Amino acid sequence: MSVSRHSEHAVAPFLLARRSPRYFQQALIEEHVLLSLFEAARWAPSASNSQPWRFIYARNGTPHWPRLLGLLNEKNQVWAANSSALIVLLSKTRQRKADSDTPTPLRTHSLDTGAAWLSLALQAEYAGWHAHAIGGLDRERARTELEVPDDYQVEIAIAIGQKAEPASLSAEELEREVPTLRAPLEALIAEGSFAPQWRE
Ligand SMILES: Cc1cc2nc3c(=O)[nH]c(=O)nc-3n(C[C@H](O)[C@H](O)[C@H](O)COP(=O)(O)O)c2cc1C
Repeated sequence: MSVSRHSEHAVAPFLLARRSPRYFQQALIEEHVLLSLFEAARWAPSASNSQPWRFIYARNGTPHWPRLLGLLNEKNQVWAANSSALIVLLSKTRQRKADSDTPTPLRTHSLDTGAAWLSLALQAEYAGWHAHAIGGLDRERARTELEVPDDYQVEIAIAIGQKAEPASLSAEELEREVPTLRAPLEALIAEGSFAPQWRE
């Protein structure tokens, strides 16, 4: 099935081109490419420039790889096993200011870290790679196995890879690779106050 994405209003084409493929072909990711993804994430905006994002990564084929892959739920492991790198994205939930011993909450730690995730994903696309966010992972086990302290939240994992050739995919796999669409803009915006249709 062929589905193409169209925006209702003109946007930068790279926003429509970014997507989350599931079927990767094993490819070696060079360190400078991986570092460029983290670099893009590093330049994301955050409240008071708090930069609460942290990245734990493993490249496929290294001794760290099985530990990160093993944190994903089974369905995600199946396709992510062919990705080139996995990242566990953390956010720092509180921080100590220079003039105080008491840590203050970073209220927008998740939001800020979400911005970093998207910068990373867009940079991946720009560099000819793809990034796929994975919420289906065992966060508690990630905390234990990666030794994540209490003042950090385990957000998501991210698989980085090169798309598999369509010819190598089964009909069912091809079906899962159809680009996702979006709700119409009119369902998402309201001028001035909460839209009645947003109430369930
Ligand atoms: C926070 C988050 C968690 C996600 N978790 C999963 C996941 O566990 N497994 C999966 O296959 N895709 C996962 N996805 C991918 C979404 O299904 C995908 O982004 C969405 O369908 C939109 O498609 P697109 O990214 O291709 O535009 C996740 C995406 C986000 C942003």
